[in-house]
Amino acid sequence: MDTISAFTPPYPKRHTSDLGGLATLLSARRDLLSFWSENSFRYQFMARKILNRHIFIANTPELVKYVFVTQKDNYESKSPQMRKALEPLLGDGLFISDGEVWKKRRLLQNGLFDNHHVAAYSRIMTETAAEMAEQWRQLPNGATVSVLSAMGQLTSEIIARALFGTNLGQENATAVIGAFAEYQAAIEQVHVSNFLGLPDWLPIGSLKMGIAHKAARRIHQLVDEVIAQGEKSAYEHTLLSELLRANAHSKGEAISREGIRNELIVLFMAGHETTANALSWVWYLLSQSPAVENKLHTEIDTVLQGRLPTYADVAHLPYTRAVFEETMRLYPPVPILSRQAKAEDTIRKKVIPPGSIMLVVPWLLHRHRNYWEQPDAFIPERFMEPNKRPDKFLYLPFSVGPRVCIGKMFGLVEAVLAIATLAQSFRLTLPQGTAISHECRLTLRPRGALNMTLERRLNA
Ligand code: HEM
Repeated sequence: MDTISAFTPPYPKRHTSDLGGLATLLSARRDLLSFWSENSFRYQFMARKILNRHIFIANTPELVKYVFVTQKDNYESKSPQMRKALEPLLGDGLFISDGEVWKKRRLLQNGLFDNHHVAAYSRIMTETAAEMAEQWRQLPNGATVSVLSAMGQLTSEIIARALFGTNLGQENATAVIGAFAEYQAAIEQVHVSNFLGLPDWLPIGSLKMGIAHKAARRIHQLVDEVIAQGEKSAYEHTLLSELLRANAHSKGEAISREGIRNELIVLFMAGHETTANALSWVWYLLSQSPAVENKLHTEIDTVLQGRLPTYADVAHLPYTRAVFEETMRLYPPVPILSRQAKAEDTIRKKVIPPGSIMLVVPWLLHRHRNYWEQPDAFIPERFMEPNKRPDKFLYLPFSVGPRVCIGKMFGLVEAVLAIATLAQSFRLTLPQGTAISHECRLTLRPRGALNMTLERRLNA
């Protein structure tokens, strides 16, 4: 591993000692990554009590395995606050459902994301990224690009086309994407209580559920129309058509029309912001790491020889994938995973009362002092040694166990194809003196627009 010149991006201040419950709460109101102490990156198991709520943190691969696999049934449920915030939009959809409903829906959808399907959607991924490259080509060299919104536009277009194909149309696509952004902005106000399972009366942010409900109704109506069109129109390979087909052939009771709509909405919601955030961090990290950027360009230029990437190329772009994986180690798009204990349990001699919140925190695990060399530095080479992959219970940007991200392959392939398509022709540089920080609400992203300067590469 080349550790000499590795870039270490700035990280939020770490407290020298652990904060008490109230200080944690006040700090968490500002930012979910702001209250950790230096020691949190060394601890194996943590117990806190905030406003009478027991909160535990499983912070070793063994404990993560225990929570997400061995005792999966006990730690299956998302916090009631998370469910409450997402229910108006997602109903009984995958992300927040549990028990039999979750199992049935998950079984039905697993097949929709196998290699054969992801290969089919990969054409949409490259095509959409190539359209973005074309837009960038129209800009003068040195133009400013808002990277966060560009990546948001790219990934929401990709998921919208993969879900609904041409049925959606540009006007509907813009309306759906806009309504989602509105919903998300409204529910993000309650992010702290979502994760920590704190009581509803807590005056943390204003719960703009009125706006959220309105946006949800608009999305429901649009998606209902698109499903109706999808049922009537000629066959086109989309997540919608595959879901309808799987439902029609499923053994047992088929999912209702409303259930199908809920699942499509979950896929839309879960399927774009995470990838957009991670891709935005990629451009920032590359801009600060010339050696990594050079290696990436060499790989892309050698493998592609100037043509657009396909699904088959992904296997031949291991460094590009490593850059993405290392980016998600440093900036996991979902930095905190939160569950609620069903029954009493005991971990490391500590009683876990029923209803406690159990956190698994990729933010801590991915930089844990006991497991990583130079934990805060950007070193994609860590992911280049096939026989030394990080433990799956230590590196978990997509979570792990039965509730692992269903779109994991989709997201990975999408990111590699988007990076390869755009980096083939462009670099993004950061204007001197720009300070970069993060924002952590439901997901972790760069704060602000992340304005960067577009440069054409010499051979592009
Ligand atoms: C880089 C991209 C992505 C990251 C980092 C990511 C991360 C995650 C994580 C951490 C979870 C588990 C959340 C929890 O347990 O609380 C999750 C769940 C989920 N993700 Fe992703 N995701 C990504 C892309 C996608 C894509 C592209 C799709 C769909 C096309 C998707 C669909 C879902 C769904 C449906 C779930 C809920 C699964 C269940 O509960 O059974 N994700 N994702």
